Amino acid sequence: MENIQFAERMGSIRTSVVRELAKYLSDPEVISFSGGNPANSSFPVEQVDEITHDLLMTKGRQLLQYGTTSGYKPLIEAYIEHIAAPKGLAVSEDHVITLTGSMQGLDLLCKVLLNPGDTVLVEAPTFAGALNVFRIYQANIVSVDMDDEGIMVDQLEEIFKTQSPKLFYCIPTFQNPTGKTLGLERRKSIAELAYKYNVIVIEDDPYGDLRFSGEAVPPIKIFDPDDRIIYLNSFSKILSPGLRVATMLGNPEILKKACVAKQSCDTHTANLNQAIAAEFLNRGLLPGHLAKILPPYKVQLDTMLKAMDDHFPSCCSYTRPEGGLFIWGEFQKDINMTDMMYKAIQEEKVAFVPGQTYFVGDTQKRAGTFRLNFSNATVDQINDGIRRLGRLFREVIAE
Ligand SMILES: Cc1ncc(COP(=O)(O)O)c(C=O)c1O
Repeated sequence: MENIQFAERMGSIRTSVVRELAKYLSDPEVISFSGGNPANSSFPVEQVDEITHDLLMTKGRQLLQYGTTSGYKPLIEAYIEHIAAPKGLAVSEDHVITLTGSMQGLDLLCKVLLNPGDTVLVEAPTFAGALNVFRIYQANIVSVDMDDEGIMVDQLEEIFKTQSPKLFYCIPTFQNPTGKTLGLERRKSIAELAYKYNVIVIEDDPYGDLRFSGEAVPPIKIFDPDDRIIYLNSFSKILSPGLRVATMLGNPEILKKACVAKQSCDTHTANLNQAIAAEFLNRGLLPGHLAKILPPYKVQLDTMLKAMDDHFPSCCSYTRPEGGLFIWGEFQKDINMTDMMYKAIQEEKVAFVPGQTYFVGDTQKRAGTFRLNFSNATVDQINDGIRRLGRLFREVIAE
């Protein structure tokens, strides 16, 4: 069929660079620091197998039937008890719905809150998947800069004041793509400013429980007496992304509308998958599971940082996260990391993601930035891949 007339809303959507890179990654010799997946070895296959068997034997007929749009009640209860309450969010059940991945939460919130042309404020840089959701809903996307400690609050207030965004989307803990974590005082300021300027905040927190060192920082949501912050959690990075189970915690009025939108989307999140997540929590397996998967991630992160210290040129600075899955790098020189990425794949057989993909507006001035993922490579691959990247960086800089 020729000349398919796609909807205007699809016009500004970009294919993810990570997905585009996939064609090069089929080469087994390529060492990839480009993805964002949790390690395959982190999945608790035996525990999920046992839980699934028990669930099917005891509640199989109920779980294989349709369920409720707002979510499987035992999962909502278990989420509040085991995840939300320990973070200071001991809410009632009407404050939580379940989702088919937290991406769905972003989609539903845009569906119920945004009109085309409404302004959405994001961090610069931010999660590319979220940018595409905001583009589909034809939002006017603007961004607030970050310094070493995350969102710059003065600039945030200026944008709240002058551009009246309807939504502010942020990832305050182990941010994708930077790995940065916002300090306590800035979290409080964001909650106060959102109230002062009547902005709804989407706080996306898929990485907060992947902390390898340092002190936990509470969600911005705990400083929100006005119930205008919507808090997204996901089981993708702490249990399995393939289960597609996540939660949205926030204002019951907004959640009710989101449920109406979810009905015409997927009716409800898969019962069996929700029940597996609920059992995982209720059997007390999450703490032991995290204790098992975090140390290898820390080894991978430390190895990557040490190799970067040893091999990267001094004009390249980078974050030193205490958790999450990413390190963010930046050249203090005029270097184009998209060109560098192709060179790295072809000449050194190493893949990473150029940073421009995580920005809106004039992305040219962000050309020297890049993201590295450390969770999907062995220690040997990390040492080898970073050494090769360092060699290429030095060569290009010397030219
Ligand atoms: C910041 C952020 N939010 C949301 C998601 C998507 O999570 P889920 O698998 O729950 O849809 C990701 C996945 O990479 C992410 O990095």
